[in-house]
Amino acid sequence: MATDFICYFWQHLHKYRLGSSPLSGEKKKFLIFLKIYVVWWFAICAKMNFYYYYFVLVILCSFNAVSSSRVLELSDKFSEIRKEGGYWLVKFYAPWCGHCKRLEPVWAHVAQALYKTNIRVGRVDCTRFPSIASEFEVAGYPTIKFIKPDIDHTFHGDRNKEDIINFAVRMAGPPVQQVTRSDSLTNIKNMNQLFFMYVGNQEGPLWEIFYDAALKLQPHGFFYSASEEIAKQHVDIDELPAVFVYKEINSGNSEESEDHLNSSMYKWINEERFETFPKITRGNINEILQTNKYIVLVVVEENKLQQIPAEMLEFRDMVESLIRKKRDKYHKHFQFGWVGSPELANSIAMQVLPLPYLLVLNSTTYHHHVPEDDPTEMTKDAIDVFLERIHNQTVPAYGGNGIAVRLYRTYFEASTTLADMWRGNPVLTTVLFGLPLSFLSFILYSICCANILDAEEEEEDLHEKKE
Ligand SMILES: *[C@@H]1O[C@H](CO)[C@@H](O)[C@H](O)[C@H]1NC(C)=O
Ligand SMILES: *[C@@H]1O[C@H](CO)[C@@H](O)[C@H](O)[C@H]1NC(C)=O
Ligand SMILES: *[C@@H]1O[C@H](CO)[C@@H](O)[C@H](O)[C@H]1NC(C)=O
Repeated sequence: MATDFICYFWQHLHKYRLGSSPLSGEKKKFLIFLKIYVVWWFAICAKMNFYYYYFVLVILCSFNAVSSSRVLELSDKFSEIRKEGGYWLVKFYAPWCGHCKRLEPVWAHVAQALYKTNIRVGRVDCTRFPSIASEFEVAGYPTIKFIKPDIDHTFHGDRNKEDIINFAVRMAGPPVQQVTRSDSLTNIKNMNQLFFMYVGNQEGPLWEIFYDAALKLQPHGFFYSASEEIAKQHVDIDELPAVFVYKEINSGNSEESEDHLNSSMYKWINEERFETFPKITRGNINEILQTNKYIVLVVVEENKLQQIPAEMLEFRDMVESLIRKKRDKYHKHFQFGWVGSPELANSIAMQVLPLPYLLVLNSTTYHHHVPEDDPTEMTKDAIDVFLERIHNQTVPAYGGNGIAVRLYRTYFEASTTLADMWRGNPVLTTVLFGLPLSFLSFILYSICCANILDAEEEEEDLHEKKE
């Protein structure tokens, strides 16, 4: 009984520390009660010197957590199992990889959330089952795939719980989902930050083009179709058929733009499929580069609790309000976003940038542009002129994607990582890199010296033969 209580507390503590869901009032009270209970329990354990009992308790809890996990452990039999049908969301991982470890709690929550659906959640240890890894062409760890009997799709977004679940739910449905009731359209608006919608009869060239684009872009976005009666209650339509993109704005207003494109539908969807000002991470930046626009990054630093210092927040909000106001002007050529971890921006710029900062990346050539002045001193008008000058290509470009630049970037990333490690833990860094290095130099030294010695002997041999 007591064990169960504490285990419950333990697991929930984990969940809330991840910040996955806000606490309701009732749960808060319950947690406070539990905290008191646990403190009391600790006091008793300590007093009676029952440390070992406490230890057993912790072990029991971890067991409890593992056994209650909904993640299925898959083996090389999986290639047979997938043919039996059904939908699978599978994580391909290696026990030694750090990103995989970070994904683990997220994955447990994903499995829990999808438990009642028709999607089964599993994982494959690729070091034990390399045949599976090669069958699914897994190139890096972790790789997340949605697997149907005959086809699989790789997840490319940011590896957070919401995005992974959205991806799985989307892939389990048809490419274009039919909206049949007006209130379900309201629900969709509340649930999704961004989606595309076709309005009209499901026939004719526009429908075919839309369906085709949805089929290709299903891993990346939501596509719906609705009749005129239902759509009318939400948007103004003057001509049918039509395709809309819906984007949520932070203030809660919505923004819809209408388009009657045909052959350029794919291009248009590709350009529109990101929010106006999304958060950009290493996970989704490659996706965003596909838009072929200039990527404007507002660089700030988040702490572990995802909080941003006030002066950086102010700068970010200033840029955001500018781009929202001038959306029509920039939208076609610029994709905006903000970066919460300076490492990503530093790696693009190949220098340690001051914060906050403004960085613009050309998505075709990978050149980057930086303002000449200190970004924090820039007014909205100055930023406006800066962006105009980028567009008419009158600002200097740096970097790029040439071999020399790529080599330098690798060097820069390695050296900053090393410097960070040194700052964090000098002793460990010395042990980690110092020891192998001294071994290596010792080995090299002995190899070279051995060669020199051998060479001298050979020479002597030659001399002897000559004589
Ligand atoms: C597609 O676009 C072209 C030019 O943009 C136009 O001439 C043509 O009529 C359009 N086709 C349809 C089916 O809308
Ligand atoms: C990137 O740079 C190339 C070459 O300078 C240019 O043609 C292109 O318009 C630029 N912009 C984008 C968004 O690719
Ligand atoms: C580029 O844009 C800037 C800012 O609007 C403007 O001052 C400049 O004259 C433009 N240059 C060209 C070559 O169009």
